[in-house]
Amino acid sequence: DEALRSLLLSRIRDVPDYPKPGVVFKDITPLLADPTAFNALVDALAALAARHGADKVVGLEARGFILAAPAAARAGLGFVPVRKAGKLPGATLAQAYELEYGTAEIEVHQDAFAVGDRVLVIDDVLATGGTAEASLQLLRRTGAQIAGVAVLLELGFLGGRARLGPALGGAPLEALIAV
Ligand code: PRP
Ligand code: MG
Repeated sequence: DEALRSLLLSRIRDVPDYPKPGVVFKDITPLLADPTAFNALVDALAALAARHGADKVVGLEARGFILAAPAAARAGLGFVPVRKAGKLPGATLAQAYELEYGTAEIEVHQDAFAVGDRVLVIDDVLATGGTAEASLQLLRRTGAQIAGVAVLLELGFLGGRARLGPALGGAPLEALIAV
């Protein structure tokens, strides 16, 4: 609701020219440091996991972990990390994706999901959508079903929602705040 949105938005700090000139970085650390706001955020994300019938909650390294892990616990669901390449000890599936300069790679454990598990993917920010898109492509390859994607903040002017459309395959993209 609007009260939640304004509370969350009031705790996100704009940092101009970070990490480079012309970019306005959305800093969520004031929100994380405010127990009322952080608790409300975790509640909202846990409610989305329940509403969309998730069996597991996936967090995207690194900032997605901070939101997805407590949301999973509050929803009474297991948490699964999607990590940057080379960090998971077991057998993994990997997915490469394009960055502005070069490529990145993310991984998930092959045995993280039971057949047919519905997963809610959580991250802090949807910008170009590249990270979330790669995660959905990766997760589909494990045999998991996509229950949806939930982000704290969608940067609408970067077009991530449109980019994510095909990978969502009809699953919902939930943004608690969109700017
Ligand atoms: C940021 C943010 C999202 C992603 C959004 O992560 O946390 O995961 O970028 O951008 P996109 O929609 O254009 O892919 P980043 O890769 O900077 O790393 P971090 O989460 O490890 O800090
Ligand atoms: Mg991130």
